[in-house]
Amino acid sequence: MDQGRESARLLAAQDSIQKIYLACRNEPKAKAAKAQLEAATGRKIFEIVLLDIMKPETVRAAVAKLATPMDAVILNAGGSGGTTGTAGFDDLPFIKRLFFKHLGGVLMPRLGMMHKIETGAKRYIDGLLEPKFKSGCFYASAGKFPTGPVVDQASQTAGYSNPEFQDNANMAVRQFI
Ligand SMILES: NC(=O)c1ccc[n+]([C@@H]2O[C@H](COP(=O)([O-])OP(=O)(O)OC[C@H]3O[C@@H](n4cnc5c(N)ncnc54)[C@H](OP(=O)(O)O)[C@@H]3O)[C@@H](O)[C@H]2O)c1
Repeated sequence: MDQGRESARLLAAQDSIQKIYLACRNEPKAKAAKAQLEAATGRKIFEIVLLDIMKPETVRAAVAKLATPMDAVILNAGGSGGTTGTAGFDDLPFIKRLFFKHLGGVLMPRLGMMHKIETGAKRYIDGLLEPKFKSGCFYASAGKFPTGPVVDQASQTAGYSNPEFQDNANMAVRQFI
């Protein structure tokens, strides 16, 4: 199970949510995930959208085809090995690959360096549904590892809550899309 699928499962537990798009690049894996989600939730609200986030033209084409307005997007694709996703770390030397790809997922949560998939997915869903999280803020973990309670990063780094900085960041990102 990955964090994206667990997030979709948690979202489907909300009666008010009527449609969940599964944005995937691999159709057979997407179909398998959709079937698992339908079986786990008893709901048929999942729709596959084929795209590769590394190929903006596939994202534009997929968005152009959407018939239903969207309330939220969870940007989860990537995996701990970058946008190579589930193929991440495959190009590392054997020992490093063994650690990062196979042992890291077991050891790092125990060392407090990583949380479990279920915890990560719940953080996404809380960010969308919990009223205590406000629009316009950047929430992330407080410590040096991406684990533990999330806090408004303006309390850690001056400038995050500055609307002018946010507008500049928005403009910079839009130059690439
Ligand atoms: N803070 C923490 O402790 C923590 C813990 C776990 C995960 N995470 C983060 O949560 C995210 C998901 O992690 P995960 O463990 O669920 O990873 P994962 O099992 O590797 O799954 C990543 C998913 O992203 C998809 N993906 C990768 N590149 C893509 C692309 N270019 N276009 C479309 N889809 C793409 C993969 O698709 P394919 O199947 O086609 O490869 C895969 O389904 C990552 O950003 C990871 O860093 C954080």
